Amino acid sequence: MWLAKTPLDIFSASFSLPFCEWSLKRRQQNGHRFYPDPAPPVATIVFTQSEPLQMDNTGMKRGIVIKDDWPGYSLDLFTYPEHYHEDIENVYIPHGVIMNRTERLARYIMEDFGDNNIMVLCVLKGGYKFCADLVEFIKVFGRNSNKYLETRVEFIRLKSYLNDQSTEDLHIIGSRDLSFLRGKCVLIVEAIVDTGKTMKALLKHVETFEPKMVKVAGLLVKRVPNMAERLTDYVGFEIPNRFVVGYALDYNEYFRDLNHICVISKTGKMKYKV
Ligand code: HPA
Ligand code: MG
Repeated sequence: MWLAKTPLDIFSASFSLPFCEWSLKRRQQNGHRFYPDPAPPVATIVFTQSEPLQMDNTGMKRGIVIKDDWPGYSLDLFTYPEHYHEDIENVYIPHGVIMNRTERLARYIMEDFGDNNIMVLCVLKGGYKFCADLVEFIKVFGRNSNKYLETRVEFIRLKSYLNDQSTEDLHIIGSRDLSFLRGKCVLIVEAIVDTGKTMKALLKHVETFEPKMVKVAGLLVKRVPNMAERLTDYVGFEIPNRFVVGYALDYNEYFRDLNHICVISKTGKMKYKV
């Protein structure tokens, strides 16, 4: 901070302030683009971190908390497929933020798994992008630290949503036989966990195959009433109870080709309803 120390300082400050204004006017007259007031912000970020990070990763249980009043970013600020122009309200979590957060989660996972190889169980279809990016970051960390872990990826397909409503049961599409998990250190990778019912049922099913260890990575966890106990060990973002699409999350199979996570508009819901 500037402080006047001598009478000369006070004199020069009282001279220089009007001089600045005069100089500004001159520059504007001469056609300079000059902004005397700061331009209004294009967006205000209200992401908050839940808790200080702790060595045992318990601070990971909520991830980055996005508050209920987060309005998202205006669509004008980002690029997205033109065909979804009327179908999304805002960019809720930009793709770049998702990527960086995923990189961070990869680091936690590496630390926790130690020297154990990772058997990844990717929950399709919504989890395919998060899983691919997460595994890629794990591989990069391995290369950069000379600590190569073998990562195997298997897939399980679940379906529990019609339109934007959860259906009750765990529907495994395809084989229920997960015997390849026996004795392995398993990382279940899911894009979104909301009521936790599906994840609870899946965990119970996975446990029957006697893995050595099971952890869950969820990019998004929804803040819903009567939330089941926190089943997700590595959380990207805790979000309000809103229906979001993009980054492989769908609404009746649409929007998987959108890179950002966005809030669907009324028009979008009507257009793709079944
Ligand atoms: N979007 C897409 N799929 C989902 C959601 C959601 O908000 N919640 C559970 N499955
Ligand atoms: Mg879905």
